[in-house]
Amino acid sequence: MYRCPVCAAPLEPGPTAYTCSGGHGFDRSREGYVNLLLRPPRHRSSGDSLEMIHARRRFLDGGHFDAVREAVLAALGPGSGPVLDVGCGEGYYTRPLGAEEGRAWVGGIDVSRPAIRLAARRGPGIAYAVANAFDLPVVSGSVDNVVSVFGPIAPDEIDRVLCPTGRVTVAGPAPSHLIELKELLLAEARLHELRHPLQDDPRFRVAEQVRITRTLVLDRPEVEALVDMTPYRWQIPAERRARREELGAMTVTADCLIVTLVRAG
Ligand SMILES: C[S@@+](CC[C@H](N)C(=O)[O-])C[C@H]1O[C@@H](n2cnc3c(N)ncnc32)[C@H](O)[C@@H]1O
Ligand SMILES: [Zn+2]
Repeated sequence: MYRCPVCAAPLEPGPTAYTCSGGHGFDRSREGYVNLLLRPPRHRSSGDSLEMIHARRRFLDGGHFDAVREAVLAALGPGSGPVLDVGCGEGYYTRPLGAEEGRAWVGGIDVSRPAIRLAARRGPGIAYAVANAFDLPVVSGSVDNVVSVFGPIAPDEIDRVLCPTGRVTVAGPAPSHLIELKELLLAEARLHELRHPLQDDPRFRVAEQVRITRTLVLDRPEVEALVDMTPYRWQIPAERRARREELGAMTVTADCLIVTLVRAG
């Protein structure tokens, strides 16, 4: 399902490299992933840092988002077609798809190389690639399910890579997501709007929508990992930085909206 980022011909995965009919080749890393990013994304960040990725893995390994993951996987439905997880991070949502029997192809892309490296170490059966969500190295119309969990949304690219009967599953924050943490650390703790990023796109319509709200009881290391995996860590105003150091065990709300969309036409 990947295509050559140079000439757009389909890429053939080989044991040591992905190659296209145009003679371009992209080596696989020791972990099995491939770097299909020709240049860093222009206006976008280079993705999550190693520190954020490790914090995310530590936190997610605690099982606090298992209900969200179950809802995301349920939203994909029982199909066996190709799936692409865009902004897959360290692979928390991608991994179970790779373990499913009979899935034609499971791809996970992220612009962060440390994220993809960590994902690939724990991800047999998944084609991981360093790539930009806004310029996907993916064959047009080749994917049955696009998944994006708290990741970047590029509507034109989703539209291009999705097959005519495809489904898009987008998970993101609902109003009270991590509100206690925001109240503690940020100058202004606004509730999220109850919206999803493809809401105003006429090419898609909502087929299903699920909201998962959970109270998470976290110990101090878990609270620290949670802060380190979110952008809040950059937003703490100077006068509240001491609070970051004093964080202890606390109860935090996880509030997520999982929306599945199909083509409107
Ligand atoms: C909040 S994290 C979510 C990761 C994963 N889906 C999860 O929920 O565990 C957002 C991810 O999007 C990635 N990202 C940011 N900009 C990107 C882009 N332009 N293309 C691809 N990935 C991007 C980051 O590196 C990060 O891993
Ligand atoms: Zn090529």
